[in-house]
Amino acid sequence: MPRRHKLAALTASVLLLNTACGGPFPQSTLSPTADLGFQIDGLFRLILWLAAAVFVIVEALLIYVAIRYRARPGQPPPARVHGHTLLEISWTLAPAVILIIVAVPTIQTILRTQRAPGPDALEVSVIGHQWWWEYRYPASGVVTANEMHIPVGKPVVLAMTSADVIHSFWAPRLGGKRDVVQGRTNRIEFTPDSVGVFLGQCAEFCGTSHANMGLRVVVEDSAAFAAWTADQLKAPALPDSLTGGLAREGLEAFRKLREPASNSCIACHTIQGVSGGVLGPNLTHVGSRATIAGASLPNTPDGLSRWLDDPPGVKPGSKMPRIGLTQQEIAALVAYLQSLK
Ligand code: CUA
Repeated sequence: MPRRHKLAALTASVLLLNTACGGPFPQSTLSPTADLGFQIDGLFRLILWLAAAVFVIVEALLIYVAIRYRARPGQPPPARVHGHTLLEISWTLAPAVILIIVAVPTIQTILRTQRAPGPDALEVSVIGHQWWWEYRYPASGVVTANEMHIPVGKPVVLAMTSADVIHSFWAPRLGGKRDVVQGRTNRIEFTPDSVGVFLGQCAEFCGTSHANMGLRVVVEDSAAFAAWTADQLKAPALPDSLTGGLAREGLEAFRKLREPASNSCIACHTIQGVSGGVLGPNLTHVGSRATIAGASLPNTPDGLSRWLDDPPGVKPGSKMPRIGLTQQEIAALVAYLQSLK
């Protein structure tokens, strides 16, 4: 193959490789959708272009010097140069100036993301658990898990703490990571600018199912957010009003006391008006969520059945044990849980 063709083939394969990386990337920090994300992205771009400029200048000088001063046959060794004041001052000053250009906006951004939230910010308490996220809305009293709903265009402040080990909250398109630590409250504030569902995950190794500790942030217009809040505040379907026979049977399976007691659903889960467990996610409106199990399974009859049948099989290390439900109990529980809209 002629050299020209080889070069063309190489270029073509590099271009093809690039297009293969074309997405979609639901968790890309490079397409921010909140002010915090834009600020961090701006820092990244500034540093990227500065580093690119340094790279090009240094490589160009290296190549120039390597060619211009290469050894030639019969040439004597070059004379040594020592103590060129102008050169030494300039290669000390240039990096210092570049570091200042990087440091000033970086520190400004850090201070900006640590400032106290404004009075009109919507506060959401985020509690990291092995391996799921709990969200509480102090203003309205809503309690939910894994899927956070927030209104577009309004400042939101997440007040974050952990129930066990250290986690890290990270929804890349909205902004930076923040450690979630037991015994202290870390905050992160941002204003989302687009409606949509933005994915995220725990970004600090926190045990066996760290990789299954996903999260979803649903940014919606204020009417949809108000409607969601109202729905979450409604009392759940009361046992007496459960029409389907199977859902009623599911409620009984949910209430059943099992051996050992920690195998009972009610020991860990709250369903308002039914049970008051606090170790697992609040299930009062679990049917309204799109996912379960740390956003790792779709909230479909199939996904729920798989989860109820063998939680540690789906999410290794799961605190919810395999309690040996019968297929009939699983079908009934699926019908009941899905009715809790
Ligand atoms: Cu929670 Cu990693």
